[in-house]
Amino acid sequence: MTIRAAGMLRRAAFRMDPERAHEAALRALQAGGPALAAASSWTSQRDATVGQHLMDLSFEGPVGLAAGYDKYGRAVRAWGRLGFGFAEIGTVTARPQPGNPRPRLFRLPADEAIVNRMGFNNDGAAVTARRIADARRGAGAGIPVGVNIGKSKVTPLERAADDHLASFRLLRGVADFVVVNVSSPNTPGLRELQDRAHLTSILGALRDEDAAMRRYDGRPPMPLLVKLAPDLPDAQVEDAVDLAGELGLAGVVLTNTTIAREGLADPLAPAATEQGGLSGPPVRARADELMRVAARRAAGALVLVGVGGIMDADDAWQRIASGASLVEVWTGLVYRGPLIARDITLGLMQRMRDEGASHISEVVGSALGA
Ligand SMILES: Cc1cc2nc3c(=O)[nH]c(=O)nc-3n(C[C@H](O)[C@H](O)[C@H](O)COP(=O)(O)O)c2cc1C
Repeated sequence: MTIRAAGMLRRAAFRMDPERAHEAALRALQAGGPALAAASSWTSQRDATVGQHLMDLSFEGPVGLAAGYDKYGRAVRAWGRLGFGFAEIGTVTARPQPGNPRPRLFRLPADEAIVNRMGFNNDGAAVTARRIADARRGAGAGIPVGVNIGKSKVTPLERAADDHLASFRLLRGVADFVVVNVSSPNTPGLRELQDRAHLTSILGALRDEDAAMRRYDGRPPMPLLVKLAPDLPDAQVEDAVDLAGELGLAGVVLTNTTIAREGLADPLAPAATEQGGLSGPPVRARADELMRVAARRAAGALVLVGVGGIMDADDAWQRIASGASLVEVWTGLVYRGPLIARDITLGLMQRMRDEGASHISEVVGSALGA
């Protein structure tokens, strides 16, 4: 795909209903596999300066696909070919569910932002696991593929651990890492699962299940991460980071969308009043701040994944300097187009050359000070 073609596609997409445009983009990525494969030497970056070995996995680049873009696992093979270093599929719930009624996805163009209340529309863990397994056969995805799991809407909060366990059992065999999403604003009560008691019960259950299954199949330990909301107070993020360490998790993903509506260039945009989670540049400052809070607390003991308002290489650099080893994008894909991962990766490589850094790991946490 040329830069011109990508620009034309994006303009066409903006004339469509946002969710239909998203579905069309996914269909194109699903169908365009062979063409993308041919172009992938150009779109994907293989450069040792940005390659990292984290969580016992090899990441050729630090820019990943955030959860919620490929909820159904339909384009698993496309992401590596577009230059993403990893992808998070899902959120997947134990049971299939339709999500909230449409419309549920809204653009705020003046802010390059999105409000969504999708509500975990997905095919359920069994179907998604089969789809991911199919996609990973043969040449596969070529990049680490994580699965993000969340509680089914019909499951009461007190049964959340069982619901996550059901998904985990089905998806463990097809995932390189698993992210537990307790931070979506669009499932009633879900964010209450971010307190210590619920996190301990859910994440402890997954960790124990993994250990039990490993006795039979001898697989390496499954890296487990937890994804947090930007609306949590700093102290609760610090506590979650402590808990992640205590439970032996691999890392933390910061952050999900925000329920706040602060700092909008166009606060009167119709979409700003819609219920749901806000993403894109308006969440960037808080996501970056919480990255620094988490990085200071984790002191290198966890892999921190930065997401929220990353639109270009400067945003990614900033988040990495704040402590993220990996970053992810969602809203940037909509406003900056399908080559965003490649562009950010190239931009990071250029800036490393400019600043005399020989490896991306030298940038990680470099803005935290002593
Ligand atoms: C339409 C939409 C759907 C999303 N769905 C999910 C989801 O299912 N699970 C999840 O963990 N995060 C989901 N997210 C949140 C993103 O993964 C990300 O954390 C957030 O959008 C901030 O990043 P961004 O500013 O790059 O978009 C969704 C975001 C959007 C815009």
